[in-house]
Amino acid sequence: MTHEIYRADAVFGTLEIPSDKSIAHRAALLAAITDGVSRLVHYPDSQDPQSTLSCLRALGVEIVDEDGILVVHGRGRYGLAHVDPSKPVIDCDNSGTTMRLLAGILAGQAYTSTLVGDASLSRRPMDRIATPLRLMGAGVELRDGAPPIDITGGKLRPIEYPLPVRSAQVKSCVLLAGLFADGGETTVVESAPTRDHTERMLGVPVVDIGDKRYVSIRSDHSLVPQTYTIPRDFSSAAFFIVAAALAPEALLRLPGVGVNPSRAALLDLLIAMGANITISNSRLRSGEPIADIDIRHSQLTGVAVGGEIVPNLIDEIPILAVAATQAIGTTIIRDAAELRVKESDRIAAMAEGLSRLGADVAELKDGLRIEGPTPLQGAEVDAKGDHRVAMALGIAGLVASGVTTVRGSESAAVSYPGFWSDLESVSFSQEAQSAKK
Ligand code: S3P
Repeated sequence: MTHEIYRADAVFGTLEIPSDKSIAHRAALLAAITDGVSRLVHYPDSQDPQSTLSCLRALGVEIVDEDGILVVHGRGRYGLAHVDPSKPVIDCDNSGTTMRLLAGILAGQAYTSTLVGDASLSRRPMDRIATPLRLMGAGVELRDGAPPIDITGGKLRPIEYPLPVRSAQVKSCVLLAGLFADGGETTVVESAPTRDHTERMLGVPVVDIGDKRYVSIRSDHSLVPQTYTIPRDFSSAAFFIVAAALAPEALLRLPGVGVNPSRAALLDLLIAMGANITISNSRLRSGEPIADIDIRHSQLTGVAVGGEIVPNLIDEIPILAVAATQAIGTTIIRDAAELRVKESDRIAAMAEGLSRLGADVAELKDGLRIEGPTPLQGAEVDAKGDHRVAMALGIAGLVASGVTTVRGSESAAVSYPGFWSDLESVSFSQEAQSAKK
């Protein structure tokens, strides 16, 4: 599918961003392994969180939609079982979070499961979870370091695991496996903080010593049925925050968006670049900080990004790159090699897409260098089957003169099914109006 975008003269309105994908996966998985009935309020209809639900259903978990609230009949820690034991294959589709977190739970189940994914997920590195799960005693087989993953679970042993990659998915996989590791504490040691939704939701101890963060869990940690209210997704909001910052005229309000500091570093960065952003009405929703975000237009200046902050804006780097094309001076993004193993190689995909639109962008081994401001011209660009690349290039199209055609626009539905219609509802474009006449 393709989508055409024209230059926007203004971005105006109030937009209700869909719920957070990362938090949704975790809430569903924890509800499934808790004894009793939990409720998921505002569970997103985007593809990735829906993949988690279908995996859980294939493991025998009853999940019922009651007036828009998902009621999960949890089966307890050891209650998951393949509905069809003759075919113990669980399809995670495009969702790396589903695969890596579910692997931690299946490592504790005394049977063999096979986790598979689509073409993109089948290329992504899984040795990062295989290594700690094997150390804990699970049998894990990969194909050249990637899915399908065969996991033979059972009784696990606790480990202390310094994270070799800055990945919340690996941290969460090990913590979930720790629920099945008898005889002590399983501890994940981070040298740079990654998103902390799992430890918040579990309510497990976190200790900072020097520049290290120790997150620990015991197998007797109690899981209590509860109601999880999922906040709006900062990573989805980020596209519109940048759209409003770049449009010649803008006044955009995004109410009730998740602003967990381990996710929302882009806000501080954009403010440092000169963005006119107001954050108000800060509050908590199911233990997660949320706030209303108002954005107006302003001229941005280039920035240097690297080091510890990178995991806290890893999913927002594609849209940061778009902002950088319109910022005065050089923006340099380093320490972000992880972007090469996301749903696509996001460094290459953004360098290619933005270059086609006329941006001055250079690909680095672990990031991007962008000179701005550069006037962009509409062209055909390719999403590379990656939702965040599709949406970031869509926002670049709002800045470009003429028409920008995003090939593979349907991949936005992985995290934001209504993205293109929401974009149309808040952006006003003379060029689009003339083209439609
Ligand atoms: C996620 C963590 C990040 C992020 C992904 C979701 C999560 O991946 O890119 O979109 O929900 O834990 P890594 O932890 O592998 O960096």
